[in-house]
Amino acid sequence: MSTLSSTLKTPVSALETPLKFAYWVPNVSGGLVVSTIEQRTDWQFPYNRELARIAERSGFEYALTQTRYAASYGADKQHEATSFSLALLGATERLNVISAIHPGLWHPGVLAKWLITADHLSGGRSAVNIVSGWLKNEFTGFGLEWLEHDERYVRTEEFITALRGLLTEDGYSQSGSYYDISDFTLSPKPLPQAARPHPEIFFGGNSTAAQAAAGRTADWYFSNGRSLEGYAENVDGVLAAAREAGRTPKFGINGFAIVRESEAEARETLREIIAKAHRPAVEGFQSAVKEAGQSTKDGKGMWADSSFEDLVQYNDGFKTQLIGTPEQVAERVIEYKKLGVNLLLTGYLHFQEEVAAFGRDVLPIVRELEADLARAHGTELDSSLVPDVPGVSAEEATASADATLSPERSAA
Ligand SMILES: Cc1cc2nc3c(=O)[nH]c(=O)nc-3n(C[C@H](O)[C@H](O)[C@H](O)COP(=O)(O)O)c2cc1C
Repeated sequence: MSTLSSTLKTPVSALETPLKFAYWVPNVSGGLVVSTIEQRTDWQFPYNRELARIAERSGFEYALTQTRYAASYGADKQHEATSFSLALLGATERLNVISAIHPGLWHPGVLAKWLITADHLSGGRSAVNIVSGWLKNEFTGFGLEWLEHDERYVRTEEFITALRGLLTEDGYSQSGSYYDISDFTLSPKPLPQAARPHPEIFFGGNSTAAQAAAGRTADWYFSNGRSLEGYAENVDGVLAAAREAGRTPKFGINGFAIVRESEAEARETLREIIAKAHRPAVEGFQSAVKEAGQSTKDGKGMWADSSFEDLVQYNDGFKTQLIGTPEQVAERVIEYKKLGVNLLLTGYLHFQEEVAAFGRDVLPIVRELEADLARAHGTELDSSLVPDVPGVSAEEATASADATLSPERSAA
């Protein structure tokens, strides 16, 4: 065991809380890897509705809907995130659905109003992921200004401050470089819930500016896929800003899961995904993402050090290395918990079947390991917080996928 893997960065009290699991909603075409390998995954609603139901019955507590407006890099078609999320919330009973949205395309007051309505419609299960943007053409093509990288986070911070103010206060006012809000009251307010003062605000980004802005404003910090060392750096950056602001954000990380009976089989699947990469699409993406962290003074951030192979999963999900047998993947998940992760965001090749399998095969091992970890540090895992779910059999998941996959699904 490496020194790092035995380092506990997470507060001991956090070891009492079971990890939460999320999956990426495949609401853009082409699946989660830009590869011609077979992906039994579909971007349309019938498939996604059943996927959401499978996920909540398998122990997943969150789903994250992507926002993309322009055909790009394997994602030729996309469904809009907030409306798609609402439909998923209507189709499920306990799943929390997080919609990604861009400041610059949305006004915080309009989003706050949407979020409150979504909160009421869903019984308090709606959340947002504030993403500051990397795809320049989505702004310039709409005739909107494309701000310089760190300036985007200035706007994002103002945006989240305004969003939170409008969600929680009456007669809210704020004046800044991007938003001027005067004496505004939204009514109704979000549903009162003991667990949270308002619908949760997630934040995605890896750069230095992103970490600082997230630490100061977000409820949850989401990182792209990262190695253990890389992730530890991100957590430090976010916590430094959070401490100064007197905040205690929670942490999430993306990982692409390839769980197979043997490690060799899992590694072979990864090899095949990369060997069948859609080269022009991945290269186009590689060039577009230079607008992200790479364009900053310190050159740090999302995709800044990603190879061609990494970018075949466009959120760097291979770097998290959730690749191997259920035991190996569960152990890897625990290494991230030790670094402060509270929520693991996952992607798959064949979503319905693999979400069900992750719930059946990996989660029970994670729970055992989490209990061991807590005990080793003199505390107990609060198992009353582990979702009590029936699970989904392999046969049922396969039949559901067969029934809901549409013929035109692979558009990469
Ligand atoms: C978990 C996660 C989800 C994201 N989802 C989206 C998305 O749906 N749409 C989008 O345009 N960008 C998305 N992003 C990208 C961020 O908006 C941002 O552009 C990216 O993190 C680059 O940030 P950086 O340069 O600050 O590292 C996501 C990022 C993360 C970490």
